[in-house]
Amino acid sequence: MKKRIFITRKIPAEIKSGLEQDFNVEMWEEEHIPVPIRILEEKISQCDGLFCLLTEQIDAQLLEKAKSLKVISNMAVGFNNIDVETATKHGIAVTNTPGVLTETTADLTFALLMATARRIPEAEQYLRSGEWETWSPMLLTGQDIWGTTLGLIGLGRIGTAVVKRAKGFGMKVIYTSRTQKPEVEKQLEITYKPLDDLLQRADFICVMTPYTKETENLISTEQFNLMKSNAILINTARGGIVNEEALVEAIQTKKIWGAGLDVFESEPISKDDPLLQLPNVVTLPHIGSASIQTRMRMARLAAENVKKVLLEEDCHYILNPNYKNGAMYR
Ligand code: NAP
Ligand code: GLV
Repeated sequence: MKKRIFITRKIPAEIKSGLEQDFNVEMWEEEHIPVPIRILEEKISQCDGLFCLLTEQIDAQLLEKAKSLKVISNMAVGFNNIDVETATKHGIAVTNTPGVLTETTADLTFALLMATARRIPEAEQYLRSGEWETWSPMLLTGQDIWGTTLGLIGLGRIGTAVVKRAKGFGMKVIYTSRTQKPEVEKQLEITYKPLDDLLQRADFICVMTPYTKETENLISTEQFNLMKSNAILINTARGGIVNEEALVEAIQTKKIWGAGLDVFESEPISKDDPLLQLPNVVTLPHIGSASIQTRMRMARLAAENVKKVLLEEDCHYILNPNYKNGAMYR
């Protein structure tokens, strides 16, 4: 009998049909509505493989029901939505999709940095609303990008790709990360700084770490107090890394100049959220990796991951520590 896979959102037909050659596949057919928890509970108790998105919280309570589950394949590089430790205890492999979205997410990160610094959404709105009457010396003036300092937090795959873009724009780059990377420093001509030092020096602060217990609220009141008054915070990593209440306060009291955000503590952000009332804040609906080509690559890789684990083939994207040859070693 074929093994069973449940896909938690509508994915491109060719990727689903690829999986159907080897497996019994069921899919939540909606494109813009997440699968209800009741259905997810039912499906997870029946399937061998789960293909899910970052919108699904795969927690310990849900994993209790996963009696036959062998693999959870997340169509994302970030995996803070999955309790990997509990999955490991249950012998369930967890996979993600790193690499294929690096350059696309770095493009969006830099686009957001530029849009915030140069007030592009506000300027577009100004023109469309018919307010534009004449060229004026200080009309819609923003912050320079060239010749400024980017402070990058998290020199990983996407962070490094952001640095390359910043260098192309004539920015000086300083960084902080969990581990110092002397080779990358030499190659990209960037300098390591401890976090507090970086916050005091940078004109743009870009957060590019995963969301973990260690990075939760990494940027809060204490950190905003260190930043320059012209500083712009860019977050395309995860919402919980930046404390939003502290961010609102920092912008309202002009401790910093602005922020560009692709991610939020709670997604979707509420229409009444104070962040949406602030000037100099540019907000996007979590579209970092959203190019047609990259979303296809991510879906293809997530499908390959679920297939390889279920067919007991080598899979390079398993996140559980001590996973080898289809089994977990403690
Ligand atoms: P990555 O290659 O693993 O890079 C993460 C970097 O963060 C690593 O260099 C890591 O240091 C560093 N780091 C981890 N914990 C840290 C800490 N406590 N303090 C300082 N640095 C820390 O991951 P990636 O592929 O670049 O992706 C990064 C994150 O971006 C993902 O986890 C995801 O949440 C987010 N993302 C968002 C979008 C979007 O649509 N907005 C798209 C893709 C990814 P080490 O080098 O020492 O491990
Ligand atoms: C998107 O946010 C991802 O982690 O891939």
